[in-house]
Amino acid sequence: MKSPGPIIVALDFDSRRAAEAVVDRLGGECRFYKVGELLTAAGPDLVRHLVAQGHEVFLDLKLFEIPNSVSGAVRAAGSLGASMVTVHSMGGTGIMAAAVAAARDFPRLRVLALTVVTSMTGTDLADIGVADPAGEQVLRLAGLARKAGCHGVIASPQETAQLRGLLGPDSLIVTPGVTLPGESGADHARPGTPRAAVVAGASHIVVGRSVTRAADPAAALRLVRTDAGL
Ligand code: C5P
Repeated sequence: MKSPGPIIVALDFDSRRAAEAVVDRLGGECRFYKVGELLTAAGPDLVRHLVAQGHEVFLDLKLFEIPNSVSGAVRAAGSLGASMVTVHSMGGTGIMAAAVAAARDFPRLRVLALTVVTSMTGTDLADIGVADPAGEQVLRLAGLARKAGCHGVIASPQETAQLRGLLGPDSLIVTPGVTLPGESGADHARPGTPRAAVVAGASHIVVGRSVTRAADPAAALRLVRTDAGL
């Protein structure tokens, strides 16, 4: 299979038909898709279908459960042929270690940890008893994720450089919150351009609406790739 490249397009749609229309329009321009809430609307067969077509799938399950349940969900993701799955590091080392152990049966499956979701403010953290600023909490959780054996983390473009320093060269750093130069940051808390994300050390960038809602998605994806210098 051809290398999927480091750009992942987020299929944030409420139906399989809408998602597949964009996949068709992108054709060979995109080899890597993120499926999150779409899984609930479209069902697992969409993932099997994407994998059968030669795509890689990042299944953004954001797991936060007891270790036994997390293991089961990771095994299910691996059985579907997913290449990436997400787990919440705020759930602690046990959950992350369970995810990593379950992924061992699926050689291409990578476990990525979410740290502090970008919508959380300092007040939100204080409300749940976390006194440290968000930036420090991100670094603490990323360090825990590394110790638990996670293959990488999800990070905003603005956190990526510090995380690359902490995690070293081999860790995956997958960066959503990517917008094209001149585009507004939509609803992202800490957005950045594709180039900024790559320069900061992102291994993959996730782009959604800038591509999927564009009049010409393939042209928009080419702009992302060109900006990133890929
Ligand atoms: O904004 P865009 O459509 O590019 O979003 C792509 C992905 O980025 C979404 O699927 C979501 O996982 C993530 N995202 C985020 N924080 C936001 C908005 C989107 O992490 N505020």
